[in-house]
Amino acid sequence: MAKIIAIMNEKGGVGKSATAMILAYLLAKRGKKTCLHPDPAREGL
Ligand SMILES: Nc1ncnc2c1ncn2[C@@H]1O[C@H](COP(=O)(O)OP(=O)(O)O)[C@@H](O)[C@H]1O
Ligand SMILES: [Mg+2]
Repeated sequence: MAKIIAIMNEKGGVGKSATAMILAYLLAKRGKKTCLHPDPAREGL
């Protein structure tokens, strides 16, 4: 069963992208298939 994890905060520069990347990296290292997807309404990842 796929899970969606959203890293959200209205404020910029608080570590959303860094958190998303390290989380995806660690999950991938544990053998989970991961896909990082930016919010298309906002800036890139
Ligand atoms: N846990 C952390 N420790 C130190 N620096 C961090 C940490 N998380 C983020 N940063 C730094 O803070 C800045 C903003 O982080 P970023 O993930 O781009 O924020 P956001 O996506 O919320 O705008 C970047 O320069 C990033 O390297
Ligand atoms: Mg960001």
